[in-house]
Amino acid sequence: MKEQDWKKSVVYQIYPKSFNDTTGNGEGDLRGIIDKLDYLQFLGVDYLWLTPIYDSPMNDNGYDISNYYEINEQFGTKADLRELLDAAHTRGLKVILDIVINHTSTEHEWFKAARQSKESPYRDYYFFKNSQDGPPTNWMSKFGGNAWQFDDQTEEYYLHLFDVTQADLNWNNENVRKALYKILNYWIDFGVDGFRFDVINLISKGAFEDSEAIGKEFYTDGPRVHEYIHEMNRKTFGDKDFMTVGEMSSTTIDHCIQYTQPERQELHSVFNFHHLKVDYKDGEKWTNQKFDLQQLKTILMDWQTGIYEGGGWNAIFWCNHDQPRVVSRFGTDLDEAMRKQSAKTLAIVLHLLQGTPYIYQGEEIGMTDPHFTSIAQYRDVESLNAYHSLKSQGYDEQEILTILGQKSRDNSRTPMQWSADTHAGFTTGTPWIDVSPNYETINVEAALEDQNSIFYMYKQLIALRHTHDIVTYGNIVPRYMGHEQLFVYERNYEGQTWLVVANMTNEPAKLPEDIEREGDIIIENGTVTGGYLEPYGAYVLSIESK
Ligand code: GLC
Repeated sequence: MKEQDWKKSVVYQIYPKSFNDTTGNGEGDLRGIIDKLDYLQFLGVDYLWLTPIYDSPMNDNGYDISNYYEINEQFGTKADLRELLDAAHTRGLKVILDIVINHTSTEHEWFKAARQSKESPYRDYYFFKNSQDGPPTNWMSKFGGNAWQFDDQTEEYYLHLFDVTQADLNWNNENVRKALYKILNYWIDFGVDGFRFDVINLISKGAFEDSEAIGKEFYTDGPRVHEYIHEMNRKTFGDKDFMTVGEMSSTTIDHCIQYTQPERQELHSVFNFHHLKVDYKDGEKWTNQKFDLQQLKTILMDWQTGIYEGGGWNAIFWCNHDQPRVVSRFGTDLDEAMRKQSAKTLAIVLHLLQGTPYIYQGEEIGMTDPHFTSIAQYRDVESLNAYHSLKSQGYDEQEILTILGQKSRDNSRTPMQWSADTHAGFTTGTPWIDVSPNYETINVEAALEDQNSIFYMYKQLIALRHTHDIVTYGNIVPRYMGHEQLFVYERNYEGQTWLVVANMTNEPAKLPEDIEREGDIIIENGTVTGGYLEPYGAYVLSIESK
């Protein structure tokens, strides 16, 4: 593949457990993905990213890997994966595996050996610390509680930035790095086309000291992170026809430029999450808070212009398996017509940005949060921890359910809605998590039949990226940033200018007097009447370059 090709690509994220079940056990599988490849090819995406499918006790749905070389039997076999790769490649689709190398499951052989004895050669694969009076530091796990777990067997603590069953690997140990590169090379040789690296900017831990907050300053974009990622690039995918994207937790623009400048030989692209914290109250996720549009625009545009000017590369997204559904979050799902309108506008705003766009399964049909009404419907370890923590802080049940309804990762993990059949056509058995009640109207079958559906807007936007270089290579210029309802920016490339105008609210928005009106309509979703753009309306205009 030419260097440029991946830049023009669109990635579709699959959460296999919730995508399509062919065995009737209520959980999705690899053969279920094979069955839907024609659909994905018709949508027009270039890459499929599968969240982890390796052996795992599934405490964090596969982000807790117990054997990197085996496929979890829940999802199928290596032969199924081989068939999936071949069937995808035949259709011109490429496949990215998710790889979790900041930590392993505590069920992994390395950890089992490490915990047996202080003398084990695997002891130093992890961070074990002796501490007499409580945990070695006050760092918090991202899933709640202290980040150190006391282990009875050798009476020391081990570090887990996530769940207690996800022990952090010690990248300072060269043997750890070698073992991880071997795993990556195994899957590269197997024929995968890319990796999504889970929380990869946390791999280099700095000093183990108490923190005034939760400790992230000691391990986020840590002291040797660039050195390690560069080394990984050189020892594995660097010279291959390959695509990588790193998930970056609480990172900075400067670091992301460094991670992705091609000459530094680290990664191809990076995700960051700052734009999705605009509905956190005082920085706290587990709150019920309306999103702040001004903040959303400012953060997105800072990252857009910052990364572009620094010669880096963004991965751009509204949704993934850790985030609520965007139409419920930044659009509206209260009214069917407005759901469609706002989902399309959000798609336009995102897909005309600079970077590589990601679509999370179901986003292309405007799937919504399921609005669960009972804690019994939740499955996610982070959400259940948050539930107990909020309970102990004195919140009442209803308040907690409202907060979870807005923030839980399970909002995006409900089964893919394929049809109006039982369980949305996802399974013939009992789904592992409830299907959203609106599947009878919101489903793939209905979307494909309706030429005005959200699906066809996504299809059009994907095609536009393939046919018009301005979408990939154009610079980006924010416009009217102070406008209270509109999100406006332009893209410029080789004497061409595209203007993207979106009303992000449920009220008509007055267009600025001096905004360009003449040009060719590239995309239209909503009309302008008497100088006002309709609620959640948007359009893209090709205008005369200045
Ligand atoms: C990433 C994954 C998330 C997982 C966490 C720990 O943020 O996206 O699902 O829980 O890493 O591996």
